[in-house]
Amino acid sequence: MRISTKMNAAINAQIGMELASSNQYLNTAAYFAGRALRKLAEFFFKQSDEEREHALRLIRYLNDMDGTVEIPAIGAARSSFDSAEEAIQLAYDSEVKITASINALMEQAIEERDFATQEMLRWFVNEQVEEVSTMDDMLKIARQVGERNIIMVEAYLVHEEV
Ligand code: FEO
Repeated sequence: MRISTKMNAAINAQIGMELASSNQYLNTAAYFAGRALRKLAEFFFKQSDEEREHALRLIRYLNDMDGTVEIPAIGAARSSFDSAEEAIQLAYDSEVKITASINALMEQAIEERDFATQEMLRWFVNEQVEEVSTMDDMLKIARQVGERNIIMVEAYLVHEEV
């Protein structure tokens, strides 16, 4: 194994977090699909795929480093929401949490002078800037239009092609 046991465990925990996020976005997409808000559903299905890709990226890295992949137990994702804003708020909060977790991994990699892991994590650091920003925009739009006019978010998504 070319990374520390501690780093290996922390990356496995991160894989769990990315997969939990992928599952949550599937539920969130289904929630929007159930409300016939197709663009919002499409947006979250796409986000779910991206989260799975993030998990795969970490799995491939552990394989490359001769580490051990141990996917942790993943809790149930939330499936019902009182409003679109609540569903999007959950996504925003989750991205903020994932960012903090990536930053903690980076701190650990720096502490361990693990340059390969630092290099691998740099991609995630940049990706999180984009992901938090995207969810922040979505949340701002949802708040501005309000639940009664949430259909307008669909038009926003067609226009922005996010
Ligand atoms: Fe994989 Fe949205 O963080």
